[in-house]
Amino acid sequence: MDKIAWGAAEEIAGYHQKRFEDFAAQSPEEIEQACHDEKGKLVHILRAEHFDLDFLRKICDTATAARRISKLEDNFLKGLLRGKSVLNYFEQPSSRTFNSFFNAEGRLGMQRGELRDLSISSHAKGESHRDSLRTLSSYYDAMVCRTKSDIFDLFALWVMKTSDREIPVINAGSGKEEHPTQALLDYYTIKESLNGKLENRVGVYVGDCLRGRTVHSLAKVMALHPGGTAYFVGPEHLQIDEKTENYLKERDVTIHKVSDRHLAEIVPLGDFIYMTRVQYEHGGEGGYDPRFIFTLGMLDRMREEAILLHPFPKREEIDPRIDYLSCKSKDHVERERAGKVMFWREMRNGMWTRLALLSHVFGVDDQIRNHYSKIEKATSPKP
Ligand code: NCD
Repeated sequence: MDKIAWGAAEEIAGYHQKRFEDFAAQSPEEIEQACHDEKGKLVHILRAEHFDLDFLRKICDTATAARRISKLEDNFLKGLLRGKSVLNYFEQPSSRTFNSFFNAEGRLGMQRGELRDLSISSHAKGESHRDSLRTLSSYYDAMVCRTKSDIFDLFALWVMKTSDREIPVINAGSGKEEHPTQALLDYYTIKESLNGKLENRVGVYVGDCLRGRTVHSLAKVMALHPGGTAYFVGPEHLQIDEKTENYLKERDVTIHKVSDRHLAEIVPLGDFIYMTRVQYEHGGEGGYDPRFIFTLGMLDRMREEAILLHPFPKREEIDPRIDYLSCKSKDHVERERAGKVMFWREMRNGMWTRLALLSHVFGVDDQIRNHYSKIEKATSPKP
């Protein structure tokens, strides 16, 4: 079932699978409940739909506080999670998510382990994913998982719930459906760029809206703010899936699916343009329809404060000339264009939001925010 190794012997595999299916058959509310601890804190970070505005505000405030603290003093953050350890379990290729987590964990003083190549683990001897995760979890205090399977997040939660040593699970991308921590960094970048005003915003999601998990997670998070509109722009066969569409509609998001118009027509409508690549590893062709490529001139068609985002990796969906724009240019047209291109900052924000998330999971986020307000008070000029 869905790329999960249940074990070598059919009968035993079937036994485990049945037990998981019973767990997974719980209602979305029960699953959400299972992701919280006894005090009601979200500790298993599986899905963007489990976030609320209060959680998002805290993550963003903590990320900003940590970012500023790090400019002033090195040691404060380093001391916060010394003695805690985390496993980075990445079955799928990753550059940004892996490195930003790895870096954030190090900045908090955590000990880090990793498994990135299943061929050197006991998987190669036919070990089930269940035994593997349970084994690895016994050496660590939290697990960050990236996997091919759409249900691995739930699977990992189930493994934890059926062990006597439950540690937090953080989903760093599962299959085609969810990438909640990418949603956090995208959201943070949008919030910072749009002066914190997120009501009535128009998001333009371009490319593989069907299999792009980052699109699903970000659209769900943005739906927490009233009055939102989402344009999904891309070829018909890569249009947004029904499940996500219904989720958004239930939350009163106005949806436009655009497959027969040029991106240039939609760009002036957006507060943020979220480009994505065609996820051809999930099947089909990797070719690009030129109507959905973001060209240099489109930057000039964007709303004044609008921004251009991309979770990366990018391919040909962005005009390469955009890579060479600089905010330090002497030419004001170039500076203005460069100011809209947010994807490099978005990446860097990934490290701070993931640091904020880990500090939330381990309950030291308020220390970061409090420390920052103390520094701020001490350094702000006296009236
Ligand atoms: C994305 C992913 O893995 O879903 N990358 C990322 O984490 N920044 C997007 C992609 O692979 O296209």
